[in-house]
Amino acid sequence: MATDDPDHTAPPGAHDDPELLEAGALPGEDRVDASLRPGRLEEFIGQDRVRRQLELVLVGARQRGQAADHVLLSGAPGLGKTTLAAIVAAEVGAAFRATSGPAIERPGDLAAILTGLEPGDVLFLDEVHRLPRTVEEVLYPAMEDFQLDIVVGKGPGARSIRLDLPRFTLVGATTRTGLISSPLRDRFGFSAHLEHYEVHELDRIVRRSARLLEVPVDGEGAVEIASRSRGTPRIANRLLRRVRDVAEVEGEGRVDLDLARHALELFDVDELGLDRLDRRVLEALVDGFGGGPVGLTTLATAVAEEPDTLEDAVEPFLLRCGLLQRTPRGRTATMAAYAHLGRPAPQAGSGVDPRRPGAVPLFDLDEDQTQT
Ligand SMILES: Nc1ncnc2c1ncn2[C@@H]1O[C@H](COP(=O)(O)OP(=O)(O)OP(=O)(O)O)[C@@H](O)[C@H]1O
Ligand SMILES: [Mg+2]
Repeated sequence: MATDDPDHTAPPGAHDDPELLEAGALPGEDRVDASLRPGRLEEFIGQDRVRRQLELVLVGARQRGQAADHVLLSGAPGLGKTTLAAIVAAEVGAAFRATSGPAIERPGDLAAILTGLEPGDVLFLDEVHRLPRTVEEVLYPAMEDFQLDIVVGKGPGARSIRLDLPRFTLVGATTRTGLISSPLRDRFGFSAHLEHYEVHELDRIVRRSARLLEVPVDGEGAVEIASRSRGTPRIANRLLRRVRDVAEVEGEGRVDLDLARHALELFDVDELGLDRLDRRVLEALVDGFGGGPVGLTTLATAVAEEPDTLEDAVEPFLLRCGLLQRTPRGRTATMAAYAHLGRPAPQAGSGVDPRRPGAVPLFDLDEDQTQT
């Protein structure tokens, strides 16, 4: 039952893996995933617009023999920001240096990094929204004029000196564009937002990863994994590794449609990529509250979870799938939610609008009745 997957501790068949569909990287996973990271722009699947734009930026820089413009990459976890940052360095043939916002506590930390750069280097600054304000202010002239203003000494003898820096390319990444101050955002020459992936793109990612991991996966098996991956390459790669485990232990190592379905059911990942908690929330909403509207706290109590967990970890994906809506009076289930749970469609007059599948009116027509 041994696998070569270091983060795999539970044997196939264990149902409780609440982190299986977590979009962020699990401990140790980055190392496992490193072998699956596309190294060049042409291997990077999907995000066609971003890829084309970035290609123009990088080819232009290469032709001029200059460092590329600073690049800001935003998007949800697991969509390929770190991967693209490394690709920027590879495409311009430069060294890749990585650090992150929370790792740089003081201006001096940033100064040490910046003065250690060689001309053309790519500096990757992950979680750039978590950079302390004092550090951010040192970064502005460094990005704009490649100059560093540092204060040496203390008290009355302190003086400011200005150092010239080599021209470098800063690649910033963030999951929270809204938290980046506008002066910082303005200093990036190129910004790209990564969207969730389509199933046909994830399908190509699964097949590519399967090739690299030497897992025999047929076309239908790959699509099945792709369609349960919540639009996220990191989840697709994780599900592929889980399915591979089941294939090796229970089958002959081959992954086809039946095996993929069986394995993903075993791990409680349904056809849309919902896990058990996601489904419990939907069921509470549909069966317990007649489809809503119901307040977040009430809904959280019904499934014995914290409201924050629901709001941050459960609702975003249900919203994205069109299964749940937020209305001024609370959460409501959509027609799609009833269909997904296999429940009969609700009647007119309930919170759910039966005329438009997946749609809920913002303000109910029978508001007077329900406002008690
Ligand atoms: N376009 C893609 N094609 C193929 N594989 C991809 C692609 N995007 C991401 N991946 C895979 O998904 C994994 C996660 O991607 P990455 O670490 O770049 O995400 P991220 O956006 O930096 O996430 P986080 O916000 O958690 O840092 C990578 O190891 C890589 O193998
Ligand atoms: Mg990353």
